[in-house]
Amino acid sequence: MQLTQEQLEQFERDGYVFIPDLFSAEEIAVMKGEVPALFAQDRPENVRERVSGKVRTNFAAHTYNDVYRKVSRHPRLIGPAQQLLGGPVYIHQFKINGKAAFDGDVWQWHQDYGTWQADDQMPEPRAMNFAVYLDEVNEYNGPLMLIPGSHRKGAIPAAHDLSTTSYPLWVINNDTIRQLVAEGGIVAPKGGPGSALFFHGCIVHGSTSNMSPWDRWVVYVTANRTDNAIRQFKRPEYIAHRDFTPIELESDDCLLTHRRSAAE
Ligand code: SIN
Ligand code: MN
Repeated sequence: MQLTQEQLEQFERDGYVFIPDLFSAEEIAVMKGEVPALFAQDRPENVRERVSGKVRTNFAAHTYNDVYRKVSRHPRLIGPAQQLLGGPVYIHQFKINGKAAFDGDVWQWHQDYGTWQADDQMPEPRAMNFAVYLDEVNEYNGPLMLIPGSHRKGAIPAAHDLSTTSYPLWVINNDTIRQLVAEGGIVAPKGGPGSALFFHGCIVHGSTSNMSPWDRWVVYVTANRTDNAIRQFKRPEYIAHRDFTPIELESDDCLLTHRRSAAE
């Protein structure tokens, strides 16, 4: 799949594109069906919330789960990734964020490239995220908030926060956020399961905790251009991947054929 000229212009201007219904209800059912078993595993790839122990992030499912391997090679994600990043890509990071009902904790304001640069020595912000909503994301269950246009500032100085949540993050201070929001405002794209949000590695974003009775499961595929591979291997392999092989695309109906062959 390729984005339209209008979507490309919006991405350039605002730093994100929101696409409702990128995946069908059947495809989302295939993806969601795998999540309980993934979250139930006792393995380091499941990073848990500090207080509740619920899964905050499941990392690297595409390396040990067949459905998510297909998601990581899906033409509706990787086609736009190659287009937006301008060349072949590999998967730098793959996660399913749980943001569990009542227990899902905050994600402080940050840029992803801040972490990729500081921790992984990624040379340029030529990586970005392709998010797929597995649940409805509404105003109550901690939607991702983005500051439109903030990607144009490039890498913003940040501080390493090791204490606010169970997951370390390079976070941006309140004065900078105040200024960025005065310029660009805040958006929080909401939509049903199957919606997709593609966002720039330098766009400033975060999300509040989830006090609602609804889980907010979202898959985040981070694609990086193969000529922009990371240079430092400080973080575990399941968080910052070291296989820089260009992704080869699956067929567009790969999730449906997976379901059919699993039923046989
Ligand atoms: C992230 O910024 O990586 C995740 C934020 C969220 O899932 O709300
Ligand atoms: Mn992020």
